[in-house]
Amino acid sequence: MNCHYTFYFILVNNIKKLYDYEVIMKNLSIEKVVDKVGQVVELYGWVDTKRDHKKIVFIDLRDRTGTVQVVGGEDFKALSEEDVVYIKGLVKSRPDKMINAKIKTGSVEIEAKELKILNKTKTLPIPVNSDGHDIDEEVRLKYRYLDLRRPRMYKNLALRSKFIDLIRQYLFKKEFLEIETPILSETTPEGARDFIVPSRFQPGKFYALPQSPQQYKQLLMVGGIEKYFQIARCFRDEDPRSDRAYGEFTQLDVEMSFVEREDVMNLIEGMMIEVYEKLNIPIKQKPFPVFTYSEAIKKFGADKFDLRTADEKAKNIQAFAWVVDFPFFEKTPEGGWTFTHNPFSAPKPEFMKDLLEKKNIGNILTTQYDLVCNGFEVGGGSIRNHTPEGLKSVFEIMGLAEDEINLKFGHMIEALGYGAPPHGGIAPGIDRLLTCITGETSIREVIAMPMTSSGRTAIMKAPSTVKEDKLKELGISVRSSGETKSVLTESVFEKIKNLLDQKKIEYKLMEHKAVFTSEDAASVRKTELKLGAKALIMKADKKPIMIVVPGDKKVDTSLFKKTYQIKDLEMAKPDEVKTVTGVEIGAVPPFGNLFKIPLYFDKTIVDNETVFFNAGSHSKSISMKGLDLEKATKPIVGSFSK
Ligand code: AMO
Repeated sequence: MNCHYTFYFILVNNIKKLYDYEVIMKNLSIEKVVDKVGQVVELYGWVDTKRDHKKIVFIDLRDRTGTVQVVGGEDFKALSEEDVVYIKGLVKSRPDKMINAKIKTGSVEIEAKELKILNKTKTLPIPVNSDGHDIDEEVRLKYRYLDLRRPRMYKNLALRSKFIDLIRQYLFKKEFLEIETPILSETTPEGARDFIVPSRFQPGKFYALPQSPQQYKQLLMVGGIEKYFQIARCFRDEDPRSDRAYGEFTQLDVEMSFVEREDVMNLIEGMMIEVYEKLNIPIKQKPFPVFTYSEAIKKFGADKFDLRTADEKAKNIQAFAWVVDFPFFEKTPEGGWTFTHNPFSAPKPEFMKDLLEKKNIGNILTTQYDLVCNGFEVGGGSIRNHTPEGLKSVFEIMGLAEDEINLKFGHMIEALGYGAPPHGGIAPGIDRLLTCITGETSIREVIAMPMTSSGRTAIMKAPSTVKEDKLKELGISVRSSGETKSVLTESVFEKIKNLLDQKKIEYKLMEHKAVFTSEDAASVRKTELKLGAKALIMKADKKPIMIVVPGDKKVDTSLFKKTYQIKDLEMAKPDEVKTVTGVEIGAVPPFGNLFKIPLYFDKTIVDNETVFFNAGSHSKSISMKGLDLEKATKPIVGSFSK
């Protein structure tokens, strides 16, 4: 062996020793480890689960793409679920009988060479390795950043992103421009209440957030854009439902010039078919069936309907249909007329004469088309009135005076007078379409940060109060703090009532003199002390929680801490109770779910045939079945009273 060769041999061997193995795959996503058998990889992620077998510890490491089993030594004992870690390790094939066919990486495991804990976690307030459906929604939304760690939520958001990407690709191919329109704006009537924003430059005046970009998109047509779309946020203050997001939602907003009804319908139908094909989502019937409004009412008893058989529902097939020929106007309770869908729509051409002459109003049909899917209205649009006379006539039929028309819609009527092209459009609801595709039970499952059903923002506490000096700058004064207090107290009570009514739970309401202790409450209600549900706001490792025990018992704090692995448990101070619940100590109801804090019930509460509690007010009590209270509040139930 010559001298050079010897040197080379030693060098290579040392390098090999240094790295242990020849190839290190840096920062690899977990799903890709299956292709790296025999290689050393670097992985980052969360500890999904941990199984301690004395000398060796198994963890499932999770990132956005999946989980993989990692085998570690003594140093892995320090890990807790949801710690963030870096792991360097060798990818090994698992023996045949150890293969886990349920997960993508089930044919391999990682033999850890190095572990770094990048961030140790505190105990999580909600589990994140379940599908989350059984956890109270208010609590899920309070901790949405944890809730999103569920693979189901990632999958929904990834689908949403891809869906919007494919929509954009389709519309760009058809030469549409994507254009943003203002958010701070003037009211646009879509049948809901507006959110209003005060102006600092003109104190006492307000902007409205758009219920849709309807007017701006029509003005873009007057501006010669011809083909417009926007993934548009719409703001509507209307009661939330499983298919209706409170506050804001997203539309694919489209408008086109020189089109007739069928042109818009064909464009959108073509888009849906192409996008769904690319996502491998089956559609029941192509082309989409078309029903007139009166056919739909006759056949299905409603203008939105589900065309799927039970079998197709199970396979989550998407059944689209169009509904056309709606009446333009309907009677108001006061005996006047209002629009059924959209005041900016044109009537069908054969009814234009009647519209202009304001005759046979109840018979006028609109150019409106609704897109229906799986029982939901997933989109709606129309050909618009592109002449000033047509639009003006609609408002006159609705009984608006000349001044009012000019004040609210003068800009539209004026714009249409400067050579506005014939135009029409549509707005499919992105959130609703995704709810249908995923088969989720609520629209909030496909929105990253939706509001709660009581209108609070996820995680953050809007709506919130504003400092006096800020209000002054805006020329706004809020009622005196005394009045505000009673409004707040009222709203907790209202929230409880609404929740119980919504869940159809029976309860009895009692009004009595103001009481401030469990003993006083029991005496005024003429009940045993133990039937009262005492709701305590406590701080568990500095975070507020609610613990509910019977009126004659106390919380066994050491038992509670041990059961729920809490290091530090203390009573919240009166002002903290007020901040968390909006009510004073003594009026706090056992509804931690309404305050978005973790809720714990001592089992004796649930076991009581009847329970009594102060319903957000010192002078209002509610009684109901213990089991119903559990149903309404979905607490964690345990035994920790003494
Ligand atoms: P419309 O008010 O019918 O029409 O809305 C169009 C579509 O938006 C969706 N949608 C909602 N989705 C979730 N939460 C809500 N609160 C909500 N409200 C509506 C529905 C609905 O079909 N400017 C017209 C469109 C046009 O004529 O071009 C408009 O906004 O899927």
